[in-house]
Formats: sequence, structure tokens, C-alpha cells
Amino acid sequence: MTDPADAAKRLAAARALEFVRPGMRLGLGTGSTAAHFVALLGERVAQGLKVVGVPTSERTREQALSLNIPLSTLDETPELDLTVDGADEFDPMLRLIKGGGAALLREKIVAAASARLVGGTARATQVAPRGRFPLPVEVDLFGLESTRRHVVRISGEAGCSGFVVVRLDAHGHVLVTDGCHAILDCSFGAIPDPEGLARGLNAIPGVVEHGLFIGLAKTIIVADAAGVEVIGDLI
Ligand code: A5P
Repeated sequence: MTDPADAAKRLAAARALEFVRPGMRLGLGTGSTAAHFVALLGERVAQGLKVVGVPTSERTREQALSLNIPLSTLDETPELDLTVDGADEFDPMLRLIKGGGAALLREKIVAAASARLVGGTARATQVAPRGRFPLPVEVDLFGLESTRRHVVRISGEAGCSGFVVVRLDAHGHVLVTDGCHAILDCSFGAIPDPEGLARGLNAIPGVVEHGLFIGLAKTIIVADAAGVEVIGDLI
């Protein structure tokens, strides 16, 4: 049976595809919504659409390669027209939490290189209480426990409290990202001051990047069985 949330993500991805124009340089996100987008993009490429993609993870790179989507890197193509990616949570100011798929560092680098970031997701993401999803923070493996304690302290100063745990992989080992870092999952609940928290986290030496995407998304596409809503810039 089709998962309704996954079906909604596919609808959002299909709507995001309408933002794509021939010749665009595209950032390709990571996660289930982005995977739908890449699959649909692959169909269009097979029909003759000319674009070039920069993947945000090895997973996405493999998927895009299997679909013969021409790929590039940010070194070859440092400026992108559009990135389409999923979101774990978003608020009315289009501030996102991302990183559930552990790809937040490359996702943020690619988003920052893009003229436009379009996020797609299932409507359940919008209606769920904010803070349902733990905030991922990507950290260097060196000094992991020391950095974790800094994250707890700095987050407390920004009004956040809750468990901060190292993400493990399916075998119970520390999950290692594409960039060879670890992820701390921070169960803070609602975040009272995302900008202040972002500043504090950025100031911790062992923190590589965090999953608060502030000022990056111009458009969010939310979908459910009833249809698709585009929030933010339409063009
Ligand atoms: C990957 O690191 C994440 O940022 C995903 O883009 C995010 O978790 C959304 O994932 P889904 O599209 O699977 O909901």
C-alpha cells in the first residue's frame, strides 16, 4: 500500500519540477522528497531536457547517475539556478530544519550556491508541532564528547533544552556522514530563537554545520491527498 506521506512528497516533487527550465544548473537534494524529484527529473532528461545537476550526497549522485542525469560539481559549476530538496520541518518564515538524512552540510553548501532553494514536503510536516523533529548538528569526530557538551551548554543559553545524542547507524556505530563527520541529534522541541541558536552553534569549534536553514528557502511546496500548496515565491 502506498504511504500517504510518501505519495504527498512525490506530488510536491512533481510540482517542484515545474520550476525547472532548460539549461538550468540544479542542486539535487537528499532524502525521500528529493529522490522523487530526481526520479521525475530523470524522466524529463530521458525525453530530452538539458540540465546539469550537482548532488548533495553520494546517495543522490548514484541515483542521478543511474538515470543519466548530467552531473557536475560546485568546483566546475559554482553557481546554481535552483536547488530542490526536502525539509524535515519549516515555519511561517520559511526557516527549515534539515538533516534527517545526515546530508545537511552538503545540502547547505549547495543551497547557499543556488539562486533559489525550493523545499518540498508532505503537509504533515507543516501541521505537526514545530520541534517534533530533532535538530541535527554535524560535528567533527575529533573531540566528539567535548563538542556535544558545548552544544548542550550553548543551546541552553539560547533557551533550548533536551537530549543531545550522537546518531548511530544501523549497526550501532557512530554514523559517519559523506564528509566524514558525526551527527548530534538535539531534541529541543520548539526552538524559541533559531537565529540565536544558529549563531551559538556556529561559534563552537567542533561544529561543522547545523540543520537550521535560515534565509535560504524562497519557496516551500506542501502536498497532501487534497492537493499541492506553494508557499513563498512562485517564480
Ligand atoms: C537530508 O539530510 C535531509 O535534510 C532531508 O532533505 C530531509 O530530512 C527531508 O527528508 P525527506 O524528504 O525524506 O522527508
